[in-house]
Amino acid sequence: MSETALVKKIACIGAGYVGGPTMAMIALNCPEIEVVVVDINEERIKAWNSDKLPIYEPGLDEVVKAARGRNLFFSTDTKKHVGEADVVFVSVNTPTKTTGIGAGRAADLTYWEGAARLIASVSTGSKIVVEKSTVPVKTAEAIGKVLKRNCSSPGVTFEILSNPEFLAEGTAIEDLRKPDRVLIGGAETESGRKAMAALKWVYEHWIPSERVLLANLWSAELAKLTANAFLAQRISSINAISALCEASGADVQQVAHAIGTDSRIGPKFLNASVGFGGSCFQKDILNLCYVCETLNLKEVADYWAAVVTMNDYQKQRFVERVLGAMFNTVANKKIAVMGFAFKKDTGDTRETPAIDVCKGLIRDGAKVSIFDPQVTSDQVFRDLSTSKFEWDRPDYSRSHTRILDNVKVCSSPTEAMEGSHAICVLTEWDEFKTYDYQAVYDKMCKPAFVFDGRNILDHDKLREIGFIVYALGKPLDPFLQKNYS
Ligand code: NAI
Repeated sequence: MSETALVKKIACIGAGYVGGPTMAMIALNCPEIEVVVVDINEERIKAWNSDKLPIYEPGLDEVVKAARGRNLFFSTDTKKHVGEADVVFVSVNTPTKTTGIGAGRAADLTYWEGAARLIASVSTGSKIVVEKSTVPVKTAEAIGKVLKRNCSSPGVTFEILSNPEFLAEGTAIEDLRKPDRVLIGGAETESGRKAMAALKWVYEHWIPSERVLLANLWSAELAKLTANAFLAQRISSINAISALCEASGADVQQVAHAIGTDSRIGPKFLNASVGFGGSCFQKDILNLCYVCETLNLKEVADYWAAVVTMNDYQKQRFVERVLGAMFNTVANKKIAVMGFAFKKDTGDTRETPAIDVCKGLIRDGAKVSIFDPQVTSDQVFRDLSTSKFEWDRPDYSRSHTRILDNVKVCSSPTEAMEGSHAICVLTEWDEFKTYDYQAVYDKMCKPAFVFDGRNILDHDKLREIGFIVYALGKPLDPFLQKNYS
């Protein structure tokens, strides 16, 4: 059978940050394939079918609008579309377990198993099942068993492929349009190779053949966890150096530039910051550690766990800097938090460092005024009242705790900064660089502080205006040095 004959309809379970954009890109480039994204979350599907998509991503609106209604559809009728599809992508959330064995480390595969059971129950013909979610090594084996044991239709077979997603939020559409590579892992059998060829054929509609890499299942699964571990490690490495820079008078940007010109190291991902966030880095490293531990590789687990430890240290260090600079008390002081998303050009707040920084400031009695161009007030309150690791579960009924009486979410930057004692820049939004900081300074309490957790502002200019500036990983203003009197 030719690959083309195999793929007439694709269903994707999970209409999130990965499922929505990836399927929109496939539909755009493969007009002859019907692509349906399904989800149990009705509100999300409604939003995908509306003018206001459920996620913010530059360029996404155009791609969705070009294909939606033609060969791209969003639906809650999971059974019908999964049943009809020849290829089923599974792009559901794979959060960190919060209870039971492996809590705080292992991946919770409840949603994945639920998807597999659904596929098995509605399949009357053979299918290719594609792991798009990031999963622990050997998940395909477990999923294969679930599929086989739960499908009652005779003669139906499932070929499982691993096709991890490497897109980065904020640049998802560009990443999908021109990926560095697409990775497809499959069984080293004739049917496995056939399934890999079918999926490769889909991607080759717009991606050069040499960029579609084939591997065995376990390599593909592990490659995704490894990629995220390496990326997060780079951030933690430069953040560790940023602490040393502050202590020694070195400048982390100069150090990063100097090492980044070494072609073996390269210049990307060397920006020191208040810490990494996003739904994946921490969860995937913890999951990698757990896999290592279960395979009796304690030293390997400890090695990778340090990347997360350093990230927590960096957030804590930032809060301590704010506190130390402001005479060891922020009680009842208005502090403007500029940026809540985990990075610019996304509204995603999952594991954003802003959560831990705000919680740290609130615990010390600060009145926090938050402004972010893309994050809603509801989202901020939900994040600040959610316990660690709980965010990736669909429970939107949590109530706000009393601690949040000291939190205000502002609809303009002026509202957030006016009358404040300090400004903390926690997301690198471009618009933050363009404000009239003289006007801001004039309406702040003195001494007026700026704590730039992303090193995006013009620090010399701010100092000229009169601000006391903390720039992460850079030589400290005399005012911020402990022995200053
Ligand atoms: P998400 O939480 O935005 O979306 C997952 C969706 O799956 C939710 O809308 C949920 O309602 C739905 N879902 C869960 N169980 C379902 C079921 N049984 N039937 C139908 N729908 C169901 O998650 P996101 O960010 O899209 O991530 C998905 C996977 O992709 C995760 O494993 C993640 O680690 C991985 N990934 C995420 C990236 C990112 O930048 N967000 C990048 C690369 C991989």
